[in-house]
Amino acid sequence: MNLKLEDPVALVPTMGALHAGHQSLIEIAKEFTQNIVVSIFINPLQFENTNDFASYPKTVAADSKFAEESGASFVWAPTFEEIYPNEPAIISAGEIGNLFEGVHRFGHFDGVLTVVKRLFDLTSPEFAIFGEKDFQQLFLIKKMVEKLNVPVKIISAPTIRDSQGLALSSRNIRLSNSDRESALGIYQALESANSGTSVESARAKLLKEISSIPNFLMDYAELINEDTFEIATDQTQNIRAIVAGWINGIRLIDNMYMSNLGVSK
Ligand code: PAF
Repeated sequence: MNLKLEDPVALVPTMGALHAGHQSLIEIAKEFTQNIVVSIFINPLQFENTNDFASYPKTVAADSKFAEESGASFVWAPTFEEIYPNEPAIISAGEIGNLFEGVHRFGHFDGVLTVVKRLFDLTSPEFAIFGEKDFQQLFLIKKMVEKLNVPVKIISAPTIRDSQGLALSSRNIRLSNSDRESALGIYQALESANSGTSVESARAKLLKEISSIPNFLMDYAELINEDTFEIATDQTQNIRAIVAGWINGIRLIDNMYMSNLGVSK
């Protein structure tokens, strides 16, 4: 452990299987403090599918080494009992928690918010870093912090992609070569949507490209107003394309800010 008592803590919550995307969260944490806690906890409450939970990669020893080498001051891999010593008080993600991811992963965001709140309670961070890749998660965590007056500053981190554009994810290690080819189609579809000249044409491009990806079982592909999570209707909004689905039993999720459509950021 290498924590400096006088400095604030930045928490990087993870479920392990760490990769360059997590490393980028640690890098961002360094801009705020020297005390960086990386938590590794595969939270059963956020898995509505027991197979997905069972097959989630478990690589704590390698993850601890990777996190330390990336600059974590402390790697914390708590047990289930440490996180949930009693029956957990579930935090509801409300209506937005039942949209998109929530339609396909019922109760998922209640599980996420419940564990994130526990992680905050147990580590008292001043900052917590979350990736934009899980955009709905990031949105709901920000809302929870606002609503419950949690004294943690939520820092969002851009999605890290490989050289061909595939968003890095712990689940990618399960993709075969041909699955990977299909997965690249998601990025291409998002790029194509961003070349649209109106909300309608961007949506049409997104759906056309997504539906042509081989072996891709789509859960949703939509353009949303990223400030409200409502369906995007016009170009005065900050618009983000969001996509999720399955390739050979592996769930993939991605999103992209429609920089050519929305008000400029
Ligand atoms: O994004 C994740 O890895 C998880 O949902 C999180 C935030 C660590 C909560 O378990």
